[in-house]
Amino acid sequence: MIVLILGGTQEAAELAKEAVNLPNIEVKVSLAGRTSQAIASNNSRIGGFGGVAGLTQYLKAEKIDLLIDATHPFAAKISENAAIAAEKLELPRLMLVRPQWEAVKDDEWIEVETIQAAAGILPSLAERVFLTIGRQELTAFAQIENIWFLMRAIEKPSPHIILPKGLLLLDRGPFDRDLEKQLLHKYNIDTVVSKNSGGNATYAKIIAARELGIKVIMVKRPILPQGECVEDVEAALKWVRGLVIGNW
Ligand SMILES: NC(=O)c1ccc[n+]([C@@H]2O[C@H](COP(=O)([O-])OP(=O)(O)OC[C@H]3O[C@@H](n4cnc5c(N)ncnc54)[C@H](OP(=O)(O)O)[C@@H]3O)[C@@H](O)[C@H]2O)c1
Repeated sequence: MIVLILGGTQEAAELAKEAVNLPNIEVKVSLAGRTSQAIASNNSRIGGFGGVAGLTQYLKAEKIDLLIDATHPFAAKISENAAIAAEKLELPRLMLVRPQWEAVKDDEWIEVETIQAAAGILPSLAERVFLTIGRQELTAFAQIENIWFLMRAIEKPSPHIILPKGLLLLDRGPFDRDLEKQLLHKYNIDTVVSKNSGGNATYAKIIAARELGIKVIMVKRPILPQGECVEDVEAALKWVRGLVIGNW
């Protein structure tokens, strides 16, 4: 059986590595190609499919039997496309989504639905902001005056993205709690803006904010399509095994 993993996350990479060891399974991985580190291996492809029609066509052409959507929790479009295409072709589809972060004692979170909502409320409550939402949506904050932004992204935003006023740091997780605290302190940050991505690699900034009494504007996740969903790689492997055995 051929399984297509829609990737771009640490979990997707781990799943792909493990799944190749399953008997009677061929693994293919698809990456959006958002970072230049996304290097094609012999079982991977890079770049968009061309919407639902392109994905449907690909699934048919490559004779995919199982689809695992292990994309980032904020990559809502590809997840929706995967759900529609899989339903059309009656393909079994699983979503692998890491658990979201939950606020704990001493966290001072203000939860908002969207990046735009985060940009909307900032002027009333912040002066110096640590903006850690990746690079694609920085423009939403570009018109805000009277706030200084410390931004962090893995790679430089493309030239057409208008940046807010401030400083851009290029860095990739996992991040360390003490270094995050030093960063917040050094730049005199009063508010952190983050997506609720979940996972350990970028959680240090949330702990650092908690320990320094800094508030966090937390952008909630988009709603997932309906369907079977697991939270870790082991459960995803179990799902694949179950379907392979069911077909023998
Ligand atoms: N995608 C990632 O790897 C990734 C990683 C980390 C964080 N994020 C976060 O997720 C949010 C949205 O990101 P996004 O624009 O990448 O997602 P998206 O809005 O769900 O996807 C936009 C388009 O990118 C293509 N695409 C996305 N994932 C793909 C994959 N695994 N294989 C092939 N094509 C793929 C699809 O193009 P077609 O319609 O042409 O098929 C899709 O319609 C951002 O906030 C970003 O920070 C994404």
